[in-house]
Amino acid sequence: MTLAISIEASADVPIHRQIYEGWQRGILSGRFAAGGRLPSTRELALTLAVSRSTVTQAYEQLIAEGYLQAIRGSGTFVCRELPDRSPNVSGAAKRRPKAVLCAPLSRYGAGLLQDYPRDARLPGFINFSQWGPDREQFPWKIWRRYLWHHLRHVSHEVFDYAEQVEGYDPLREEISKHVSRFRAVNCTPSQVIVVNGSQQALDLCARLLFERGDKVAVENPGYPGALRTFEAYGAMLQPVPVDHDGIVCRDLPDSARVIYVTPSHQYPTGVSMSLHRRLELLAEARRQGAVIIEDDYDSEYRYSGSPLPSLQGLAENVPVIYCGTFSKVMFPGLRIGYLIVPETLVAAFVRAKRLADNFTPVAEQIALKDFIADGHLERHIRRMRRLYGGRREVLLESLRRHLAGAATVYGDAAGMHAFVRIDDKAVGERAKRNKVQLQSAQNCFLGGTHSDHYLFAFAALTERAIRGGIRRIGCR
Ligand SMILES: Cc1ncc(COP(=O)(O)O)c(C=O)c1O
Repeated sequence: MTLAISIEASADVPIHRQIYEGWQRGILSGRFAAGGRLPSTRELALTLAVSRSTVTQAYEQLIAEGYLQAIRGSGTFVCRELPDRSPNVSGAAKRRPKAVLCAPLSRYGAGLLQDYPRDARLPGFINFSQWGPDREQFPWKIWRRYLWHHLRHVSHEVFDYAEQVEGYDPLREEISKHVSRFRAVNCTPSQVIVVNGSQQALDLCARLLFERGDKVAVENPGYPGALRTFEAYGAMLQPVPVDHDGIVCRDLPDSARVIYVTPSHQYPTGVSMSLHRRLELLAEARRQGAVIIEDDYDSEYRYSGSPLPSLQGLAENVPVIYCGTFSKVMFPGLRIGYLIVPETLVAAFVRAKRLADNFTPVAEQIALKDFIADGHLERHIRRMRRLYGGRREVLLESLRRHLAGAATVYGDAAGMHAFVRIDDKAVGERAKRNKVQLQSAQNCFLGGTHSDHYLFAFAALTERAIRGGIRRIGCR
């Protein structure tokens, strides 16, 4: 139990009485839970800078009145049954539910409660809203070995405040090689900033790239995690439709300060932005003087054709901030992502990162660097690409079979989820009845009702679970 009482030496009330009342109030209000252990008389006397006998006097009185119980050899604990004869509490008062304190939320805070829900996992349900990769398939043995290796002899890099807020240098180098090779990103290691997942990358962009009231163009439908973050910093969101080539450039607003896109695998529709659309977008951003945020969250999983080069790699005379993550190719609990920013912006991003959370934990960064450098990441991605490709096929096949005519699948053969419109009002009810957890895509849309659009995350489900789940929601 942490110490949460205080005394006032100059008060008229004797110190032992103040200690007694401090504990009594805490116990009666429920702040000190039944069964909780108190500090020893010696510890408390030292902390409060009073004599031990003063503390003992207060404890003895609380024990005598039935608030505390001393167990020889173990310590002093809050009694599970409190005394009824307490002068401060009647039986009715003890039964009264605790008052709920209400702090007024900002308009933004209240809005989040309305439109940024997160469904709890329903036990026993086949869950199509699990966003992570497959947990069982990750090479835990190898990962554990790297982590242990660096924790065995704890270095100052692992223990101390990091000297380099921008990330562990050798990891920044590996990331720079990885994205240059696989995403045709044009960068040096000095442009890489390691962050806690790409969600933090988006947050830092929002802090640094626009003023309150500035126009930020976003895909509609789009990634709610980005939209709500930009709103938190006062962006005036400008929804822009998406077609089969990606964001529709002719519908971009004039004078957008920032344009946020997910070109490799548009979230949520799954469309890959065509090359001519990429070039058009870059030209438009250049004309408007806008910064592009390229969120490349799951580009590693592409099941047919070769991936198009990143916008960042194609850009000339347009600032593009590239956001990547290890949440999909490793696991989301790792919380490591990265930003690749133009040289001129590095200093500002580093300072904003320091203010946000100082730095990203270093032990995992060191282990990750070794994991990548020894070729495990590439191997793992290759294996998962095959596995998820198969799961995606099973999903599409099952939708065709059990929801024929009702289900329309959008997007390309890529990523870890499918965006599906289901023209069957009873599907939600069948899902609930047959224990299938679906994920509505409603909160990806800025305006309008889209209750017939769903996201099916398939990477974490076995082929059997996918087949079974779709059969259960199917109409045949
Ligand atoms: C489009 C998009 N961007 C960013 C993220 C954030 O990922 P993380 O913070 O885990 O790196 C996600 C997570 O699913 C996503 O779908």
